[in-house]
Amino acid sequence: MNESGCAVAPLIWHGDAENGWLEMLDQTQLPTKQVAIECRTAGDVFEGIRMLRVRGAPAIGVAGAYGLILAAQQIHSNSSRAFLGELTRQADWLNSSRPTAVNLSWGLGRLIRLAEKMPDSLSLTDRRSLLLEDAKAIAREDKAMCTAMAQHGLDLIPPGAGILTHCNTGVLATAGEGTALAVIYAAHRAGKNIRVYADETRPLLQGSRLTAWELKKAGVPVTLICDNMAAMVMRQGKIQAVLVGADRIAANGDTANKIGTYTVAVLARHHGIPFHVVAPTSSFDLGIESGTQIPIEERAAQEVICGYGKPTAPEDVDVYNPAFDVTPGDLITSIITENGIIRPVTKEIIEKTLGESWKPGL
Ligand code: MRU
Repeated sequence: MNESGCAVAPLIWHGDAENGWLEMLDQTQLPTKQVAIECRTAGDVFEGIRMLRVRGAPAIGVAGAYGLILAAQQIHSNSSRAFLGELTRQADWLNSSRPTAVNLSWGLGRLIRLAEKMPDSLSLTDRRSLLLEDAKAIAREDKAMCTAMAQHGLDLIPPGAGILTHCNTGVLATAGEGTALAVIYAAHRAGKNIRVYADETRPLLQGSRLTAWELKKAGVPVTLICDNMAAMVMRQGKIQAVLVGADRIAANGDTANKIGTYTVAVLARHHGIPFHVVAPTSSFDLGIESGTQIPIEERAAQEVICGYGKPTAPEDVDVYNPAFDVTPGDLITSIITENGIIRPVTKEIIEKTLGESWKPGL
C-alpha cells in the first residue's frame, strides 16, 4: 500500500531474471475493472505501452526497463558483442512504442550503458541478473523521486487551496505516489484542506477514469470537471494553483504534457493563478533546445470519434488527434523536481538544478 492510501501498483516484477515476468495493471479497464495482464515477452510490454495499459511518463520508463529484461531472456548468444547488439536493437524497438515521454528512452538508455560496461567474461545469467537489478533500481529511485518532489512542492500549496490538475500523474503513472499528485497527497496529509479539480482529459479520459478514481480511493476531496470548464472554475475563484506533470521538458523549460495542458497554462496566466509542473529529472531532455523539437505522438482517430466503443461523430470525419501539447516555459511559474524547485524557469536555473543528475537517453 502506498502512503497515499491508494492500494494499487501499475507494475510488479515477479521472479528472477531468467524466468521472471511483469504484472501490468491494465489501466484501460479502469475505473470499472481492476485487472492485470501478464507480460512474458518484450512484445507484451510494447503492446501494453502502446495501448496505454501502462501510461504516465515515469511508469513507461519503468515498464520499458522491465521489457528489456524480458527481451534479454530471449537472447542466447554467449558473445558479449552479439548480446549487446541484440539488446540495443530491442531497446530501440521498445523505445518506438511511444515517442513523447523521454523517460522511456532514459530508462532503456541506462540499461544499455550498463550492458556496455559488462566484461566479456560475464555469463549470460549474470548479464541478465545485473540488468534486472538495475531495472528494479530504476523503479525504487522513481519512488524516492516522487517523495522528494512532494516535499519540495508542499510549501507552494496554500491552505484551503483549490488545485486544478490535468490527466493522471499519480500512483498509476509512477512507481511511487506520483508527480503532481504526490504533492497533492502530501498537502492532503498535511491537513491543508485542499480540493482537487480534475480535468476529465479528453479523449482518453485519464482525469475521470484514473485521477478521480485514485483520489477518491485515497480519500482526497476531488471534483471532476470537463476540460472546457477550466476557465469557468478559475473565474469563479475556485482555483489557487494548477499542478501538472510532464512527458518531456526541453533545455529552455518548454514542457510537453497531455493534450490540453497548454490551454490550462494560458488560462492560468490570464487569471493570475500559479502554474506548476512537477517532474523528475528523468523527464528532462537537455539534448534539445526547445519544445519545437519534442516529437508529438499522434493517435488513432477512433479515440476521438468512438471513445470506448461509443460512436460520437460521423465515421468518416477528418480528425486530428495529437496526444500531447507543449506549454512554453514562460507560462510556467515553477518546475518542481526531486532536486528542488526551478523558478523562474530559465535554461540556466534548469541546468544548475539538474547538475550531474541529468543523463541522456538512448
Ligand atoms: O498518454 P498518457 O496517459 O501516458 O499521458 C500522461 C501524461 O501526460 C502525464 O501528465 C505525464 O506523463 C506526467 S505523469 C507523472
